[in-house]
Amino acid sequence: MMFYITIFFVFCIRFTQQATSSFISVQNRRLTLNGQDYLYVGTNFWYGANLGSTGPGGNRTRLLRELDHLHSLGVDNLRIQAGSEGPNTEPWRIVPSMQPEPGRYDEDVLEGLDFLLYEMGQRNMRAVMCLNNFWHWSGGYAQYIVWAGGASSIPYPGDYAAFELFSARFYELPAAVQLFNNHIQFIMKRTNKYNNLPYVEDSTIMSWELANEPRRLNLSWVNATACSIKQLAPKQLVTTGVEGSISSNNFSNDHASPCIDYATFHLWVQNWNIYDPKNASDTFPPALEFARKYIEYHVAYKEKPVVLEEFGISRDNDDHSATAPITIRDKYYQAIFQWARDYRIPVNFWAYGGEGRPRLPRANWTQGDDFIGDPPHEPQGWYSVYDTDESTLEIIHSFASVSSASVTKTSLGFSILLLYNFLHNLYYLG
Ligand SMILES: *[C@@H]1O[C@H](CO)[C@@H](O)[C@H](O)[C@H]1NC(C)=O
Ligand SMILES: *[C@@H]1O[C@H](CO)[C@@H](O)[C@H](O)[C@H]1NC(C)=O
Ligand SMILES: *[C@@H]1O[C@H](CO)[C@@H](O)[C@H](O)[C@H]1NC(C)=O
Ligand SMILES: *[C@@H]1O[C@H](CO)[C@@H](O)[C@H](O)[C@H]1NC(C)=O
Ligand SMILES: *[C@@H]1O[C@H](CO)[C@@H](O)[C@H](O)[C@H]1NC(C)=O
Ligand SMILES: *[C@@H]1O[C@H](CO)[C@@H](O)[C@H](O)[C@H]1NC(C)=O
Repeated sequence: MMFYITIFFVFCIRFTQQATSSFISVQNRRLTLNGQDYLYVGTNFWYGANLGSTGPGGNRTRLLRELDHLHSLGVDNLRIQAGSEGPNTEPWRIVPSMQPEPGRYDEDVLEGLDFLLYEMGQRNMRAVMCLNNFWHWSGGYAQYIVWAGGASSIPYPGDYAAFELFSARFYELPAAVQLFNNHIQFIMKRTNKYNNLPYVEDSTIMSWELANEPRRLNLSWVNATACSIKQLAPKQLVTTGVEGSISSNNFSNDHASPCIDYATFHLWVQNWNIYDPKNASDTFPPALEFARKYIEYHVAYKEKPVVLEEFGISRDNDDHSATAPITIRDKYYQAIFQWARDYRIPVNFWAYGGEGRPRLPRANWTQGDDFIGDPPHEPQGWYSVYDTDESTLEIIHSFASVSSASVTKTSLGFSILLLYNFLHNLYYLG
């Protein structure tokens, strides 16, 4: 009898190990996990490291419940910030920042990132590690410019067109680029204190992303930076984080570097003035049509895998309170997930707010407020999906549970292993 149990035990261990130690790779221009297409329904969870902190803003009991909830929905891919810059006194920012001053780090936030990655690994989830930000809400390019002496202060938007030109000066300032390179070296050479795994050896990390929504890209900078990341982390993937074909971006050129493994795009019908939530009956149908064409344009790119890593829409009538109806959002999520499935591309919705709630609907975020899906510079409650949004969660679950079927097998293997250990202990202790 023990013989068969031992064989079973070995089988379970192998089953579990094989699944949990696999890196996401690119094969035949597809994201691949254990020989199968890795077609996930994931979310944006930029505040994960802050929530995992034991310092100000952290809430590990909440984080664990959120991860359990997401995992139970089948949402196993989280796009997170692996960099945020101070000083913590600046407006519109994630506070506390991971790097309050150039080269000085907040150990609580770093350990929050360790904890997040460790707990994601326990649930066989994968992380997209976003290293920088073209926008100001995590510091990003604008802060590196100021740190490098390229400006005395940041011209916060208001005027996004002016801010875009300011932020793009990052590429021209060797000292700013150098400070960011220092961050890349620092964070990628970190070892997780909860499992003693170097980040670059952790299959929980699917990819490293140059920045959130970089525009006006300098393509030699893209190539140089992507290749230096690839050299540090040959087992993990590298991508850009671009929004796709808007502004001055050129989607195929932006992803041309041989060190870029897959392409990204984002889809924002309200921010781009196609959809008006106060005029949904007239503007939602054309917004859907725009979304379909925008997706079709980007999936037509056949050189590398393509991921829709941000999309979202407001609650009905632009009401930001957590109980406002979400009929349009449900229709939109249903349509986008269906197209993502039809075109076989992974997708991350924006964004998971979970148990968090705004201090006031539409409030500006200030330190001490819950972290939700809306970053600090955006009206709180705009795009967050809460744990009480049952109808949306059901739609997410219906698409996510299919795409994560292979992951469920792993959990099954793991459960059997736990059961075996339990029986085994009972046998020997009893
Ligand atoms: C583009 O990036 C390269 C490499 O970082 C740099 O040498 C060059 O000055 C940059 N050019 C512009 C116009 O920003
Ligand atoms: C990209 O960067 C790598 C590493 O620095 C270099 O060897 C290669 O020539 C570059 N490729 C292009 C197209 O610039
Ligand atoms: C992107 O650049 C390529 C090559 O430079 C060019 O052929 C293509 O037309 C450009 N795409 C757009 C949308 O401008
Ligand atoms: C609603 O949208 C339609 C189509 O864009 C436009 O013609 C109409 O003026 C809008 N109505 C309001 C009240 O904004
Ligand atoms: C953690 O979050 C929960 C809500 O999810 C809240 O009830 C609790 O007060 C928070 N704890 C701390 C220490 O902020
Ligand atoms: C958020 O901040 C902006 C700019 O300071 C201000 O105009 C707006 O009234 C604030 N919103 C709320 C709800 O406090």
